[in-house]
Amino acid sequence: MEDAGLNPPSDCRSGRCGWCHSQLIKGEVYIPESVDGRRQADKDFGYIHPCCSFPLSDVEIDVPPMPVG
Ligand code: FES
Repeated sequence: MEDAGLNPPSDCRSGRCGWCHSQLIKGEVYIPESVDGRRQADKDFGYIHPCCSFPLSDVEIDVPPMPVG
């Protein structure tokens, strides 16, 4: 995402903090179990942590803006 010029929110970059929490709208990603820090509700509603998700296809995701402050 950063290589594409986006500025997604991030902190831990390892799947634990949830700052990058984004909704997967379209496409498929691989999330290694060892770094999947999502809550069950996130999984149920299609949220991913892009910092530790690997696209398996073209994807469309809804990324929240970087918090200000
Ligand atoms: S930056 Fe912490 S979970 Fe993605």
